[in-house]
Amino acid sequence: MEKEKIILDVDTGSDDAVAIVCALLSDEVDVLGITTVTGNVEIRNTTDNTLRVVECCDKQDEVKVYRGAELPLASTLVPWGIQGKTLPRTEKESDQSLKVHPDHLPLPETKLKEEDKRAVPWMIETLLSMPDRSVTLVPVGPETNLALAIRSDERILKKIKRVVMMGGSHDKYAPTQGAEFNVWVDPEACEIVLSSGLDVTMVSLDATSTVSLGEEEAKAIRKIGTGPAILVADMIDQRLNASSKTMKGNEGAVVGVALHDPLAVCAVTHPEVLTDIIDTSCHVDLGRGFAYGETVLGRNYEAVYDENGEIMDLPKNVHYARKADKDLFYKWICGILLKGRERH
Ligand code: RIB
Ligand code: CA
Repeated sequence: MEKEKIILDVDTGSDDAVAIVCALLSDEVDVLGITTVTGNVEIRNTTDNTLRVVECCDKQDEVKVYRGAELPLASTLVPWGIQGKTLPRTEKESDQSLKVHPDHLPLPETKLKEEDKRAVPWMIETLLSMPDRSVTLVPVGPETNLALAIRSDERILKKIKRVVMMGGSHDKYAPTQGAEFNVWVDPEACEIVLSSGLDVTMVSLDATSTVSLGEEEAKAIRKIGTGPAILVADMIDQRLNASSKTMKGNEGAVVGVALHDPLAVCAVTHPEVLTDIIDTSCHVDLGRGFAYGETVLGRNYEAVYDENGEIMDLPKNVHYARKADKDLFYKWICGILLKGRERH
């Protein structure tokens, strides 16, 4: 079967690292390149962390890394905007074990460097060189790079088969009471993607929170024994440890943590992993208030009527995933890591 051609857009990040491992080691995916963006940590760290993961998977000769946007499109321009104050900045002496996303992943420093060409020009050039509807975009961080590419050269739209993004929320929230992190960091970028007419599958926080993995799974994965398997186990442990320490009033250890980003990669080749999907309208609240960055589902126009005098619904522009199959997801990760061991 032909491999799915993807561009992976990351803000590496502990769960991004697992997404990169699974994409690079999967024999069902052809990663055309990896683009980085500021999000979980700042751009120099998301890029360095991504290079470390590529080297850990021994894929540096096949897959290149392209540095992307250092800041969101607009959210940090608002002097009183909380994104400007709270976007992660590499802290000098912070306790890395407390962080869901350490500044530096627990991998050896790498001599690998990102390509000279930056993410957005590379993304445009690569897409324009591909057949129509041939490339799946998999953004698992703030969508600044993809939004800039769309705004810079709309010709890429017909080259994109679909977008399978990690982001958005309806019933679960983080970091604010209404928004999911990737959308919250760059609300305008996500709205550009949602309004582009592209076929968008939204692997939301609602879905990713139904597939948490814990110590047992981390132990089993660590036994596989390869570098990438140990990294995946370390990332689960990092998230368990950080969540246990930072969750207020937590009685005991956190029993499981969501691995948001690899679920989006899994959904590219195994859409059946998403067990509850609705086709609905979805747009981002761009007001500068409490709900800034919130993804709003299923609304209709205010008093806009169709030819039958009915209130007109907004076009259904996303396939919104609300639940996922944990067993299938976990078996998919283990299958990729075990095959990776056979190849070494
Ligand atoms: O809300 C989850 C998303 O925010 C994930 O992509 C995680 O890596 C962080 O970027
Ligand atoms: Ca991410």
